[in-house]
Amino acid sequence: PTALAGRHFLKELDFTAEEFRGLVELAAELKAAKKAGSETPYLRGKNIALIFEKTSTRTRCAFEVAAADQGASTTYLDPAGSQIGHKESVKDTARVLGRMYDGIEYRGDSQAKVEELAAHAGVPVFNGLTDDWHPTQMLADVLTMTEHTAKPLTGTAFAYLGDARFNMGNSYLVTGALLGMDVRIVAPKSYWPAQDVVDRAQKLAAASGARITLTETVAEGVRGADFVATDVWVSMGEPKEVWAERITALAPYAVTMDVLRATGNPEVKFLHCLPAFHDLGTKVGQEIHDAYGLDSLEVTDEVFESEHSVVFDEAENRLHTIKAVLVATLA
Ligand code: CP
Ligand code: NVA
Repeated sequence: PTALAGRHFLKELDFTAEEFRGLVELAAELKAAKKAGSETPYLRGKNIALIFEKTSTRTRCAFEVAAADQGASTTYLDPAGSQIGHKESVKDTARVLGRMYDGIEYRGDSQAKVEELAAHAGVPVFNGLTDDWHPTQMLADVLTMTEHTAKPLTGTAFAYLGDARFNMGNSYLVTGALLGMDVRIVAPKSYWPAQDVVDRAQKLAAASGARITLTETVAEGVRGADFVATDVWVSMGEPKEVWAERITALAPYAVTMDVLRATGNPEVKFLHCLPAFHDLGTKVGQEIHDAYGLDSLEVTDEVFESEHSVVFDEAENRLHTIKAVLVATLA
């Protein structure tokens, strides 16, 4: 058993920097083993339930492929198919699934639900995204950063532009603070993370040596950055009506080539958890294009398709890092 055997993976704040870095290192080892064709299946005979109350491409596929690579099997409960919270309480669902499965992934709206699931399941529970946190995404992003810079994380500067009050903004802030990075949140003040999240991050920073900057000024926020990241301006579960106000407020924070140039770092890399509105060719994108006359939202197609962009390495790393969480907690 590993040091994290039996642990939940609910939010970054539950982990020490050493534990978090250990998961990233394990992911790098598992990635290398898979590429070399020498992966050892540590999870034979294990069963993992995947509850998705919100849709997913990467997270679901990463859990399913990671489990299969490791010899475990999965059951996917889709947003329509799960009774959780509607017909059956979270507590009862937890106790039922805990009798059948060795681990449970949950994606949904409230962090309280995944915490309650964890409190009653009796088996490790993994947060596959809530409104508050996206911790498995952070493992993938940190692995991607370590692959794309020779600097130690403590010497790495990272700027997140966009809506920072939701899962991605919160997670980036506390993860950067935990790992001792130079973290910049670049957004209108009303889109900064809640004060309690900032307070937690500042406490972590005092211990880790992280530098935390919250700024409304793009030029100041991205200067010297090694990585620039963004996320969608409207998250899953939010009503369509918020698009207009988001576009007005966040358009100055779109990641363009000018923003990358403003870092002053020709090697700067671009991150995005995906899906991304870099062109508006999708069904939802087309509606936005028609309503607002825009060609892209949080990132231009030019940046997304440029050599600065490492978004598909980041997406692939969801697999290796989620596998690390499964192996560390269940093997
Ligand atoms: N980045 C991410 O979580 O993607 P999915 O919503 O496709 O899982
Ligand atoms: N903030 C986005 C992240 C998607 C992976 C959302 O919650 O929809």
